Amino acid sequence: MSDLSVANTATSKAFDVKAIRQDFPILSQQVNGKPLVYLDNGASAQKPIAVLDAMDHYYREMHSNVHRGAHTLGDRATAAFEGARETVRSFLNARSTQEIIWTRGTTEAINLVANGLAPRLKAGDEILVSHMEHHANIVPWQMIAERTGAKVVPIQITPQGELDMESFNSLLNDRTRVLAITHASNVLGTINPVAEMVSQAKARGIITLLDGAQAVPHFQPDVQALDCDFYAFSSHKLFGPTGIGVLYGKTAMLEAMPPYQGGGEMIERVSFERTTWNVLPYKFEAGTPAIAEAVGLGAAIRYLNSFDREAMEAAEHALLERANQLVETVPGMTIIGTAKQKVPVMSFKIEGLHPSDIGTLLDQQGIAIRTGHHCAMPLMDFYGVPGTARASFAFYNTLDEVDQLFTALQKVQRLFT
Ligand code: ALA
Repeated sequence: MSDLSVANTATSKAFDVKAIRQDFPILSQQVNGKPLVYLDNGASAQKPIAVLDAMDHYYREMHSNVHRGAHTLGDRATAAFEGARETVRSFLNARSTQEIIWTRGTTEAINLVANGLAPRLKAGDEILVSHMEHHANIVPWQMIAERTGAKVVPIQITPQGELDMESFNSLLNDRTRVLAITHASNVLGTINPVAEMVSQAKARGIITLLDGAQAVPHFQPDVQALDCDFYAFSSHKLFGPTGIGVLYGKTAMLEAMPPYQGGGEMIERVSFERTTWNVLPYKFEAGTPAIAEAVGLGAAIRYLNSFDREAMEAAEHALLERANQLVETVPGMTIIGTAKQKVPVMSFKIEGLHPSDIGTLLDQQGIAIRTGHHCAMPLMDFYGVPGTARASFAFYNTLDEVDQLFTALQKVQRLFT
């Protein structure tokens, strides 16, 4: 492998990856007798001490239920919980915290929207998704389509893994009611031209939802600039805890939708004759929320904000570039997804090797990647593969780790094909 010192120095001024790795205790362990190389960030990212400490502090010092106003701990918990909502609002550049709904994750956020829009859909209406969507942005729409008689229509993609914009343009029509599209693909890494697509959809009065699960760990979206009606993401991919995610929705859209679940917190007044709903965002937050997790997500965003995000993006891009350069060192290796604009995700296959065998053999060398269909079966069908191997990078990964991945792949290829 080549000397990495030049490239590492190039990003070290604004961005010291060695120091950053100290913030992630889990990264400094051995797995199967080898230093862990964690390249499964697209499935779930690791958590910095700032997040662990924030949640620990919350439970040690202020845990209580929120919005009850009965005592001091409750007030502290509420302030921390609502403070996290404000951190998310600012992260997305939403107009108001009313537009920030806590959910369990991206999946629940999309289910919430699909269910909320169901009363507006009728037989013959079309819901436009794409061929590269995660199941979370296909199946909820199929379930609603089943109920309403609407139809889920996929936008085609090119062999490089970009959205086919001709297909998009030709599918937009008077029956299209919803455009639900991923901001960045979990398999291909493709960053889609969502601003342009939203703008075209808006011109036709189509409701727009962006799945930001794979985008937000790599760059910060601006929902006002994007002008989408809904934007969803998960905390655990954004270096925060599991069990919580975010749905951003424009106030008018959220006001117009019925609640998703019923219970405490989401009501204004309950009687057996008539129940009325709480104001936004609480109308969509039935039951006791994931308070510590919200605090943890807020801490994750503040941690990310403490860095120069452009330097971070450049460092991640360098990881992907390095990986792209090394592909030719592994005979029979092909990248799936070669779009011009990508987040640092590399899906690949190696001739003669099953993806799950690649995963197992890499694990034996301490390297964690994901293999399988990645919850994107229609995309696997498009490429005619049962699954892929996928290395997904985060800002705490190093060029050295990319080299270790390829050294390991070369070994796997030599020994098993
Ligand atoms: N959706 C996650 C992934 O792509 C779990 O791995």
